[in-house]
Amino acid sequence: MNEVSQKILGRLSSAPGFLSGAVLSREFGMTRSAVWKHIRMLRSGGYGIEALSGRGYRLSSMTGIPSGPEVEHFLNTRAFGREMVWEEELVSTNTTARALAGEGSAEGLVVATDRQTGGRGRLGRSWESAPGLNLSCSLVLRPLVPLHRIPQLTLLVAVAVHRALGELLPELLTAVKWPNDIYSDGRKLAGILCEMESEADCAHFVVVGIGINVNQESFPDHLCRSATSLKLVSGKSVSRPALLAGILNHFEPLYHAWCEADDLAFVLDYLEQHAWLKGREVEVSRLHGKIAGRVSGLSALGELRVVASDGTVHLIGSGEATLKQ
Ligand code: BTN
Repeated sequence: MNEVSQKILGRLSSAPGFLSGAVLSREFGMTRSAVWKHIRMLRSGGYGIEALSGRGYRLSSMTGIPSGPEVEHFLNTRAFGREMVWEEELVSTNTTARALAGEGSAEGLVVATDRQTGGRGRLGRSWESAPGLNLSCSLVLRPLVPLHRIPQLTLLVAVAVHRALGELLPELLTAVKWPNDIYSDGRKLAGILCEMESEADCAHFVVVGIGINVNQESFPDHLCRSATSLKLVSGKSVSRPALLAGILNHFEPLYHAWCEADDLAFVLDYLEQHAWLKGREVEVSRLHGKIAGRVSGLSALGELRVVASDGTVHLIGSGEATLKQ
């Protein structure tokens, strides 16, 4: 969709009723027949737009694609998501967001797509997602905090995703699996991948990548025992633009509070209440070996507290936790 069509769509979506062709042509500095051409393009892109002579145009249905104007409709942020890049296909939204951040894009820019050909997960894994059904997006941040605090962002985003899901599907039980997953029904619904570019002592930018299985109804064999979707666990189709906006609406204030804070203490109760691993026997793989024990909670820095069978308490800053059989 071209930029002018996008702006016309944005204007139609914020109008309470019909908008006349004359108003649109004045506001956009074009002839009424040029306005009509954009309306036709929007319709062929799947937007329902009524046209009544003497009254003008009214947006009657959206496409459900998580692109700028549709997301904006649900946003109540100051900056997050106010600038959006939408592409039907990308290698990875994190890759595009990193490139744009490197060129100077402002904090709050969101990149989203319907299909990633090289979606990335944590620890060098790939991220697979059925095209057109799920949410794959990345947010650019420029936090002015000491470098050692950056890993805390993953858990902070998890809180925002968890809250947004709770708002859209209040009856659904979901939990945060340290450090970067959202689980429901014992399976993974969503993953978060934070990547950064930094010097030794300061981050130039952080890109927060979020992948959520939204309306996908089946998974390939190698994923079907470990992955699930909102559609599968709730039985409901979920609006991807509303979900993306909900996450940004929750994340923006959390992020600003976190920038002013020293740690994650202000969301620790929430994280403990919705922790998937709490009280479970786990094995945590880290760069240097494994630690086994029972999870007793999190530290204010977001470390996983694991109590080994001999009573030793381990605080683990990063790793991958699996349940012990
Ligand atoms: C994980 O669970 O290991 C993290 C998965 C993160 C996937 C998202 S999808 C949008 C963004 N772009 C990527 O390439 N990865 C993240």
